[in-house]
Amino acid sequence: MATETAAIVLCAGKGTRMYSKTSKLLHPLCGQPICYYPLDAITKAIKGPVVAVIGHQADEVKAAIESRYGDRVQFAVQPNQLGTGNAVAIGLEALGNQPSSVIVMCGDTPLLQTDTLEHLIQWQRRQQLSVAMLTTKTPNPTGYGRIIRNQDGDIAGIIEEKDATYQQRRIQEINPGVYAFDAAFLKEALPLLTPQNSKHEYYLTDVVQMATRKQGTVAGVEVTYNETIGINDRQGLAIASKILYAQTAEKAMLAGVTCEDPHTTYIDSSVQLGEDVLLGQGVILKGNTKIADNVVIGPYSVITDCQIATGTHIQAHSVCEGAIIGKEAQIGPFARLRPETKLDAKVRIGNFVEVKKSHFKEGSKANHLAYIGDASVGHASNVGAGTITCNYDGFHKHTTVIEDEVFIGSNSTLVAPVCIEKKAYVAAGSVVTEQVPQDALALGRARQINKPGYAKKIRDKLKS
Ligand code: UD1
Ligand code: CA
Repeated sequence: MATETAAIVLCAGKGTRMYSKTSKLLHPLCGQPICYYPLDAITKAIKGPVVAVIGHQADEVKAAIESRYGDRVQFAVQPNQLGTGNAVAIGLEALGNQPSSVIVMCGDTPLLQTDTLEHLIQWQRRQQLSVAMLTTKTPNPTGYGRIIRNQDGDIAGIIEEKDATYQQRRIQEINPGVYAFDAAFLKEALPLLTPQNSKHEYYLTDVVQMATRKQGTVAGVEVTYNETIGINDRQGLAIASKILYAQTAEKAMLAGVTCEDPHTTYIDSSVQLGEDVLLGQGVILKGNTKIADNVVIGPYSVITDCQIATGTHIQAHSVCEGAIIGKEAQIGPFARLRPETKLDAKVRIGNFVEVKKSHFKEGSKANHLAYIGDASVGHASNVGAGTITCNYDGFHKHTTVIEDEVFIGSNSTLVAPVCIEKKAYVAAGSVVTEQVPQDALALGRARQINKPGYAKKIRDKLKS
C-alpha cells in the first residue's frame, strides 16, 4: 500500500496580469525566480515525488526548475490552460504510482513556510481527511476565492470572486490555494468537475464542495495572511519582495549580523553571511555572495556575486560585482570592482578606483582615481593616483603585468601589453609602452625646462 505524500505545484498559468514577456514564475524575487520559493518549501517538507505542471512558456520554466532541482522535481505539461482542476488532473496522472496523499500548491505563492506544509500534511493524514486546506483572513480579499462556511462553522465550499454574490464578496476569509488531499478522493472527484462558471474553467476549488457532501472530511488550517500571498501582478511582487527582504535581514541579525538599519538593508535569499558582520544603512547584497566573519560593509554599497574574506572593510558607496576579496582588505569609499577581480589579503583599493579582471597580490594598493583592467599586480606594489591601464586598442584586450614591489607614479598611462618588472619605478606622468626592467626607473615624459624670469616678462607685456 502506498503511504507516501506527493506534491503537485501549479506552474502552467499565463500570468496575464504581469504584462510581461517573461513567465510570471521566473520573475526575480529577492534574487531568485518566484517559483523557487514554493518548490524549496515543498521539496524540504516531503520526501515523495514533486511534479511541476507547466504549460505557458514551458521550456523556459522547465529549464529554470531543472537547473536548481535536477530530477528531484518532475514535469507534466498542461497543453491548454483550462483551469486549476485540469492542471491538477494532469499532475496526478504524471504521478503514476499512486501516493496516499497529495499536496497541491501554486508556483506563485513564495512566502509559504516548510513547517506550515508539514503541519498541513500531518493534519490531513492523522484525521484521514478528504481535504485539509490552508485558510486565512484579509481585510482586502479582492481576487481570491472566498471560503463559505455552514451554520456549524465548517467549510462548505469555495466561491471564486467572479462567481460570488455581493454578500459573498464581503467574506474576508479566503482560499490561499494550498491543499492536502486524500489521493483516492482527489482521483475520484476530478473527473466530476465541469466548467460551469463565469471563466468556463475547471476549478479545483469545486472539489472542496464535493468533499463536504461527505460530512466532516474537510478541515481548514488557519495561517497568517502574509504567508499565503499569491503574486498575480507587479504590485503583489513588490509586496512579497518587501516581506522577504525584511525576513532575510531578520534572519541575518539573529545569526550574528548587525544591520544598522534593517529597513534599508536588502539581502537576497541566496547570500551567505558570517558572524560579527556589520552592514551599514542601505547596503544591498545580491546573488551568490559569501561574506566571512568580521567583515564591515559601509553604507549604500552594492555587492553582487562576491566572496569576501574575514576582516575586510568595504567603505561606503562601493559597487562590487563578481570579485573575490581576501582577508583584511580595505575597499572604497566609492570603489568599483568588476567581474573577475581577485584581491589578496590586505590589498587596498581606494576612492574612484575601478578594477576589472585583475589580480592584486598581498598588500598592493591603488588608492585613488585609477583604472586597472586585465592586469596582474604583484605583492606590495603601489599604483599611484590617476594610473590607467590602456588595455583596449579598439579591437582586442591586452594584459598589463606589474610585478612585486613596483612603484607606479601618479598619472601614468600603461599601454598594454606591457610589463613593469620587480622593484621598478615609473615616474609620475609617464606613458609606458615598453617593458621596464627590474630595479629600473622609467621616465616616459617630456623633460621639464625652467626659463628664469619668463613669467614676469609675459605679465609685463600683457599689462602694457
Ligand atoms: C486560485 C483559486 C482561488 C485562490 C487563489 C489563491 C481556483 C479556481 N481558484 O485563483 O480560490 O484564492 O488561487 O492564490 O483554483 N494554473 C495552471 N493551469 C491553469 C490555471 C492556473 O497551472 O489552467 C496555475 C497558475 O500558474 C497559478 C495557479 O495555478 O500558479 C493559480 O492560478 P491563478 O490563475 O493565479 O488562480 P487565481 O485566480 O489566483
Ligand atoms: Ca494566483
